[in-house]
Amino acid sequence: MESAMARHDAYREEVIGRANVGDTPELVAYYEELAKYETGALWTVANKIEPWQPKSESVPVVWRYRDLREHVLRSVDLVTPEQAGRRVIYLNNPGRREVSAAVGWLYSGLQVMHPGEVASAHCHSSSALRFIMEGRGAYTIVDGHKMTLGANDFVLTPNGTWHEHGVSEEGTPCIWQDGLDIPLVNALEAGFYAVHPDLNQAVTHPVDDSTAAWGGVALRPYGETWNKPYSPLFKYEWEPTYEALRRYAATTDGSPYDGVLMNYTNPATGGPVMATMGASMQMLRPGEKTKAHRHTGSFLYQVAKGKGYSIINGRRYDWQERDIFCVPSWAFHEHANASDRDDACLFCFNDLPVMHALKLYREEALAENDGHQPLIG
Ligand SMILES: [Fe+2]
Ligand SMILES: [Fe+2]
Repeated sequence: MESAMARHDAYREEVIGRANVGDTPELVAYYEELAKYETGALWTVANKIEPWQPKSESVPVVWRYRDLREHVLRSVDLVTPEQAGRRVIYLNNPGRREVSAAVGWLYSGLQVMHPGEVASAHCHSSSALRFIMEGRGAYTIVDGHKMTLGANDFVLTPNGTWHEHGVSEEGTPCIWQDGLDIPLVNALEAGFYAVHPDLNQAVTHPVDDSTAAWGGVALRPYGETWNKPYSPLFKYEWEPTYEALRRYAATTDGSPYDGVLMNYTNPATGGPVMATMGASMQMLRPGEKTKAHRHTGSFLYQVAKGKGYSIINGRRYDWQERDIFCVPSWAFHEHANASDRDDACLFCFNDLPVMHALKLYREEALAENDGHQPLIG
């Protein structure tokens, strides 16, 4: 009897143009012979490695802040930033445990720091971003530029930059969401990591100078040049972002799939904030329910404001402020604001710059059922 493991025709499809070869004793002997030379017959795996459409191993997940917050805070009593390097509870998608990803090739985690704590300066090939969830006094230093941070602020630590984080003595315990492309960089086997020789870097520019120079709306500082492959604006503050969304919302119908959405951009180019990761903030107006679409790319959302739900691949996921949820590649999704009075805002980061750069972006609206997914189960 042949075991299931020994089968070589598990992926055959009865479709013209696809691999459709059944096992015979002669073929199996041939495959075993090929294996001795570290080779294989493509037709035994072709349908598996080239699916008709993207097959994400990630599953939709909501990480509820009310469940996670106390566990994140508890880590403060268990390890120091010095011991841990970075004291983070990471989001571990059940389909992506092997690569420690939250969705697709994106990593994410919740980092906590107490007043007076500082994490040592380091540098890595992965690009990173953070979105502040709670607390006062948090700061990040990127290549000598210090940024002070408040709730719903979005900050970049691009790849190759020296960076460190801390909370000032006068602050309160701070929690923020980290987002990195670590799994992608590892998949490409291109990751380096270095600890700063002095463990901490000097602040060599005026505090918040990046926002002062580059944070003006459609205003470019005279004489400033910028040739690096990421945004010179390292911090995107919540207040002007929300104000921009409110003003835009008053004059637009928005997108049928995303409501009122604005991308965070590199002010020097108009492009995404970093080479591998993009980010956006979107507003769902009171009572707004979007239609379903799907596209390539992996997406992690954090609820910056309000409450509602998203339907992802036919299942409903309720969310409220500070919850985080993911939309895997090619999963149908639609969002709804549960309030008829208040708007809801979703922060999102994604790997869309990679999809676009590699010409892999594809998007499709749900045509049936007036654009809304029937609920499963
Ligand atoms: Fe880092
Ligand atoms: Fe979408």
